[in-house]
Amino acid sequence: MTTYSDDMLGRARVRDTADLEAYYAKLAALEAGALWTIANKIEPWYPQPQSRPVKWSYADLRPLVLEALRLVSGDDAGRRVVALYNPERRDIAATVGLLYTGLQVMGPGESMTAHRHQAAALRFVLEGTGAWTIVDGQKLKVGPRDFAITPNWTWHEHGNEGIEGGPDPAGPVIWQDGLDIPLVNALDAPFYEVHPDVYQKQVGVTNSSLYTYGAGQLRPFGADTWHKSHSPLLAYPWEPTYEALLNAAKASDGSPYDGIIMEYSNPLTGGSVMPTMSAHMQLLRAGESTSAHRQVGSKIYTAAKGSGTSIVAGQRIDWTEGDIFCVPSWAWHEHANASTSDDACLFSFNDFPVMRALGFWREEAYPDNDGHQPVTPN
Ligand SMILES: [Fe+2]
Repeated sequence: MTTYSDDMLGRARVRDTADLEAYYAKLAALEAGALWTIANKIEPWYPQPQSRPVKWSYADLRPLVLEALRLVSGDDAGRRVVALYNPERRDIAATVGLLYTGLQVMGPGESMTAHRHQAAALRFVLEGTGAWTIVDGQKLKVGPRDFAITPNWTWHEHGNEGIEGGPDPAGPVIWQDGLDIPLVNALDAPFYEVHPDVYQKQVGVTNSSLYTYGAGQLRPFGADTWHKSHSPLLAYPWEPTYEALLNAAKASDGSPYDGIIMEYSNPLTGGSVMPTMSAHMQLLRAGESTSAHRQVGSKIYTAAKGSGTSIVAGQRIDWTEGDIFCVPSWAWHEHANASTSDDACLFSFNDFPVMRALGFWREEAYPDNDGHQPVTPN
């Protein structure tokens, strides 16, 4: 068992005196300071995220997201989004760690202008059948539970082809945006441009990346010319994703911590879809409950199908379709499907690719109590 004592040899343990206080004041006047006064705080023994586990109820937020349709135009807002903030991280607009998420709404017939930014973005559709997005000229159509990416510095614009009061597809689209804006800003690396023509011209057929790269294990002609750091496949529809999970469940027990879990991957490399963020869909079989584990990295979950309960850092979070919750870095977490007859699915995205690329990756299984955390009473 590791001892965590800041009084031990090897940690900063200076007792302040009047002489030292005077010395600190002289350093401060020169924009300097004594490292030992803050060393233990800035180099903690293990991650001390300011972010807390939080759940955002879709039933509570949905009416407010829809209310924005009449309160603000897409053109004036740029993007009509209700952002989800961690209580202690509002200052950097983070949902957890250095990740951001929000709920974007587009009314029937609406389209948003084109722009690009240093931050990478991903989308997970919650409702509505009319959504489309154009990423670097490629038009994609996305429906409920589909996942799509807008890699950093790609031109993008979105819309909803639904017709007000018309036949299907109709009605508003609500999708979840996921971005690494707080990370990009923490690195002082943001850039932003509005498209010179305001809107892009579509190149090729709709869903061209899906037609070209959507077969996964079949490498298309021309793939050797793709040298970008993100996946050439820009959209990942729900149906083949769910089918892949069901098939995997026939052949494997999956992960003791996550059930049947699959990462949306770059079909050319097998790696994450983008360099800073990765995304997963996981299936919890009827009656399944997992053991707890933790990783270095922040995670944002969306209940995609069914309902269940997750325990995050000892806090019980009950979720049902559309609910979003976060798991701060190094927080223990485990999941359970509430149903004994139907499966449940959780979509999630994270900053694991950053942790891996920087050599920060760690993962641990909860060691006690059969792998289950004690739950803090509410
Ligand atoms: Fe954007």
